Amino acid sequence: MLEARDAVKNLHAYRPPLAGRTGLRLDFNESTVGCSSRVLARLRSLDSELLARYPEREPVEKEVADFLGLDPAHVLLTNGVDEAIHLLSSTYLDPGDEALVVVPTFAMYAIFAQAEGARVVEVRAGDNFTFPENDLLAQLTPRTRLIAVANPNNPTGAAVAGNVLIQIAQAAPQAAVLVDEAYFEFHGETLIHHTQQIENIFIARTFSKAYGLAGLRIGILAGEARQMAMVRRMASPYNVNAAALAVLPEALQDQEFVSRYVAQVLSNRERLQQELSNLGLHYWPSHANFVLVHIGPAHAEFVQALRERGILVRDRHTDAGCEGCVRLTVGSDEHSQILIGALRNVVEPLGLRTRSRTELPTGVRA
Ligand SMILES: Cc1ncc(COP(=O)(O)O)c(C=O)c1O
Repeated sequence: MLEARDAVKNLHAYRPPLAGRTGLRLDFNESTVGCSSRVLARLRSLDSELLARYPEREPVEKEVADFLGLDPAHVLLTNGVDEAIHLLSSTYLDPGDEALVVVPTFAMYAIFAQAEGARVVEVRAGDNFTFPENDLLAQLTPRTRLIAVANPNNPTGAAVAGNVLIQIAQAAPQAAVLVDEAYFEFHGETLIHHTQQIENIFIARTFSKAYGLAGLRIGILAGEARQMAMVRRMASPYNVNAAALAVLPEALQDQEFVSRYVAQVLSNRERLQQELSNLGLHYWPSHANFVLVHIGPAHAEFVQALRERGILVRDRHTDAGCEGCVRLTVGSDEHSQILIGALRNVVEPLGLRTRSRTELPTGVRA
């Protein structure tokens, strides 16, 4: 009988709740307004000849590298950040190696590392989800071959200073250090230019969030040239589809669209955080396009009550240290106003307003 590898049999299937997502989508940290009209016009202009050909990644890779101020040898376009994580895992992890992740965090680091037969070592975030630098350093061993950090982190919105990540990379020269900057546009800090000097740092970026292109599946992995040559060997030459490659230059050129959306999200993030305070709900200040809020035992009812008002949000109750927490994506002015209006209507009836601080999840108390 055909058997999958043990590492695969041991994987927990990761099934994000994608079914029936109608209404206001504040559950996956997508853009709530979609992509720019220039990108849409370019997509509509594509012809069958383009679709008949195998896609050519390199010319667009060069444009992206120019945009980032990097040499093309440092840049690989990927099928979303997910593929970047997959490629790094398969390039650097042998069975029995160790992959360090700070939890709670994005699920795909552990999944792709486990799929290679690596041991995932989880380091718990500190109080209020602060970055556990010393605990992480204490877990380094000669077998540590991958360290994955989302900065800002999902689902907490917490950010870590770049110099801390550089210190970690220097302390673990045998490990690939992935700094996942999926939410870079909402945070504004990056280590992407350090990839020229620090051999073991990799930066991932995505067009799924601020650019509103999650459906096209396109991301960037940047790293030191010799390391990227190794990662490139693992990638299919056709990993990024022709439609994504055709619209990417337009998406990059329309920075006005991106800045306008990001500016809205940043001001709405402040408004939402203020509103959560007014409603007596504890939240963790965010550096990304979402806010993690503590709802307590009624988390599922809260999610359901919003769903009944046509708003989808994500229950993060089962993430490490996130008992009773729900993540709310921040979107445009109009969409944030709808969310805030609904929050006012659901918080009182569910009796959430008067939660005491002692009910916050352990390990994350203010
Ligand atoms: C930290 C982080 N990295 C990566 C991704 C996925 O990015 P992509 O759509 O480019 O695969 C997400 C999506 O939620 C994320 O939160």
